[in-house]
Amino acid sequence: MALAEVDRVSGRTERDSGWWRDAVVYQVYPRSWQDDSGDGVGDLAGIASRLDHLVSLGVDVLWVSPFYPSPMADFGYDVADYRGVDPLFGTLEDFDELLAAAHARGLKFVMDFVPNHSSSEHPWFTESAASRDSAKRDWYLWRDAAPGGGAPNNWKSSAGGSAWAWHEPTGQYYLHQFLAAQPDLNWRNGAVREAMLDAMRFWFERGVDGFRLDVVYHCIVDEQFRDDPENPDFDPDTRPSFDAVVPTFSTDRPEVMPLVIEPMRRLADAYGNRLLIGEIYLSPEKLVRYYGEAPASGVQLPFNFQLIFAEWRAEPLAALIRDYEALIPDGEWPNWVLGNHDQDRIATRVGPERARIAAMLLLTLRGTPTLYQGDELGMTNVEIPTERVRDPWELNMPGLGEGRDPVRTPMRWDASPHAGFCPDTVEPWLPIGADLARLNVAAQSREPDSMLALHRALLALRRERPSLSLGDYRSVAAQGEALCYERVHGAERTFVALNFGDAPCQIELPDGATGTIRLTSRPSVPNRDVEAVITLAAADGIVVALRQA
Ligand code: NOJ
Repeated sequence: MALAEVDRVSGRTERDSGWWRDAVVYQVYPRSWQDDSGDGVGDLAGIASRLDHLVSLGVDVLWVSPFYPSPMADFGYDVADYRGVDPLFGTLEDFDELLAAAHARGLKFVMDFVPNHSSSEHPWFTESAASRDSAKRDWYLWRDAAPGGGAPNNWKSSAGGSAWAWHEPTGQYYLHQFLAAQPDLNWRNGAVREAMLDAMRFWFERGVDGFRLDVVYHCIVDEQFRDDPENPDFDPDTRPSFDAVVPTFSTDRPEVMPLVIEPMRRLADAYGNRLLIGEIYLSPEKLVRYYGEAPASGVQLPFNFQLIFAEWRAEPLAALIRDYEALIPDGEWPNWVLGNHDQDRIATRVGPERARIAAMLLLTLRGTPTLYQGDELGMTNVEIPTERVRDPWELNMPGLGEGRDPVRTPMRWDASPHAGFCPDTVEPWLPIGADLARLNVAAQSREPDSMLALHRALLALRRERPSLSLGDYRSVAAQGEALCYERVHGAERTFVALNFGDAPCQIELPDGATGTIRLTSRPSVPNRDVEAVITLAAADGIVVALRQA
């Protein structure tokens, strides 16, 4: 893209930094978006064929989960070649075409990058595992058994069980913080760092606008391999084994900034205006350190997952937003995530009605929002019959709620038997699920008050009102069970009230102001001028353009 080209979102030129600030990110899980080849699994050509959905929705950034060559033990998060495309998804030419098609529509393209681990079938690991003297032995984390035998320490895998796998041929254990088929790379080794940065360079050269960095806070582990502290509250009957310890020495080590993130940021900045998003599940206090101490030394957007675990009531939400806002370092920018391919669907977590005001919250808070595919339709978790379970986490930890298939089911484009995702003659890789007549793009495009219509209206209003995209956040005291706040940009003020309660409540506009209701959770409701006090129905929300005093 030419440097002087004007950005579709903000009117700023490419030379300006920070295009992601007023952008909205949309996550596509490629296996489940659109199958073009007719094998029941989504692919890159399928993504290209559905880009117009993103344009009509009004998002700005397309983030696509991994499509690298992979044995698919973890459906692509086990990478066997960091510079290619798995034949299941297409070819590098398909990738180039997709990228060009996205850019032609003014969309940015963010790839997934998986720095913590490769596949055990990556040639680097095969070579590393060949012998203790292999030139690449130190590219992964090999350790002798503990003195009395058994794993070198008590670290746990997020995919279930110990984080160590015994390798009989060379008589050592290797570390895998996820599946045994996903051995951890040794980022303390300079050659590993170079090879991984080279892989990122490969895609930057092709024109990608950034990377989402998978579990980047796991990339460095304690140099002395000390045991993680035991978790005194662990209940083995109800919780997976990884909960038995607090991952103090296996994650979030201080060296992750200088050894992993800072070099990545330097590389991204060398290409100009590229975005790094960190997938980091940590408390807000720890999370904000990933912005980096020095300016432009960390990731621009350390994913903020608090809404995934939030208690959906006005007071706790107000506190969570206030505390997070207070932690954002000067000059840095917040972000919010409502769902992704690993977490229960928002409509399942809060119910279909409250999912509407959750969307209003996501898209009116200060910070870059990330939307997960299908949430714009209100898709819910799909029940997966036992014989169709695919996710290794569910297979390793059955019945503990760790399985992710229910949120990875195919996108629904229309009401045909396979939802327009794949031909009706082939079985989709995961079931389509119930409630198809209501939960599909075609039906909701015709329905003025659908969840899709609400998302389109919210995104259009966000684009129209800089106070919503770029403005300051001002908390307004909760009124009843309604969360209230203002967004302010210059003279433009927008007031938002979202009633999370079960009863109607009276809302006072701030400072006795008057204004125009621009949007409610039913987007077909016409704009309406309002005086100082409004009644807000249960599970309803309003966005009010306040009039200048
Ligand atoms: C986080 C990804 O979002 C998840 O899907 C994956 O299983 C793990 N990282 C391991 O790569």
